[in-house]
Amino acid sequence: MEPGGTAIVTGASAGIGAALAPRLAAAGWDVLLVARRAERIEALAQEIARAHGREARALALDVARDDAFAALEAACPAPAVLVNNAGAGRFGPAEATPADEQAATVRLNCEALTRLTLGYLPGMLARGRGVILNVASIAAFQPVPYFAVYAATKAYVLSLSEALDVEARARGVRVVAVCPGPVPTEFQGIAGSPDARLTPRHALRTAEQVADACVAAVRRPRPVVVPAPVHGFMRWAQRFVPRSTVLGMAAKSMKKRME
Ligand SMILES: NC(=O)c1ccc[n+]([C@@H]2O[C@H](COP(=O)([O-])OP(=O)(O)OC[C@H]3O[C@@H](n4cnc5c(N)ncnc54)[C@H](OP(=O)(O)O)[C@@H]3O)[C@@H](O)[C@H]2O)c1
Repeated sequence: MEPGGTAIVTGASAGIGAALAPRLAAAGWDVLLVARRAERIEALAQEIARAHGREARALALDVARDDAFAALEAACPAPAVLVNNAGAGRFGPAEATPADEQAATVRLNCEALTRLTLGYLPGMLARGRGVILNVASIAAFQPVPYFAVYAATKAYVLSLSEALDVEARARGVRVVAVCPGPVPTEFQGIAGSPDARLTPRHALRTAEQVADACVAAVRRPRPVVVPAPVHGFMRWAQRFVPRSTVLGMAAKSMKKRME
């Protein structure tokens, strides 16, 4: 997609979203930064406007609220780009996390993303222009014991995005799933998962590298973008391995991280 119009980035106060918003502005989009921590996105919006001479606004919003789409639509009725990046999860045995907290993960990663996606999709289709970029994860590729609910939410994001892309593509709108592997951000502290920097270097990406892949995906959309080639290979190779073997390997690797 050629630059122009507004790009909404949810989860823009930290990590991948905070790296992505200035890159989209530098590439030619106005940006609307969304997250709950107002002071962070307001400061980043000011910095972006100064550095890139584009309109950069901040909207403090919990995207998991029932009325989140209405609030976002009031601030930006017709975005060219929507990046559903806000997301979280809880690492460890499923029963160790209260059910309400697990349900909140589903609400943020799946329900909120669906409401924003389907809220903006009709307008984009009517205009014949738009990209919706949904940040999934390599955890979407297979069930992940000890990160079960999070991985299941990301499988949903991947499935939804691929299906919607087929529906929308011929009408000028693309829906892209971005599937990063480990990225050192605030995510690990919130998830209680191991430091991403323990990941081998060939499988590790910085938030800035993932953000670069996101900008490239907005400019030249493909249904699924996997920033690290090793994870693209892993996804391809899984087709030839029994599901039970893949699950066993995933369980072993996650268990090791809990030690
Ligand atoms: N880091 C990784 O290893 C990794 C790997 C694969 C995929 N991902 C995915 O990448 C995305 C970004 O993660 P990250 O690593 O950048 O995490 P992060 O550093 O924890 O940032 C998460 C962002 O989401 C926002 N957020 C969380 N809950 C929200 C809510 N209810 N409403 C609005 N904003 C909310 C946070 O802002 P506030 O707290 O200010 O609201 C923050 O800006 C997530 O979808 C994550 O699942 C991450």
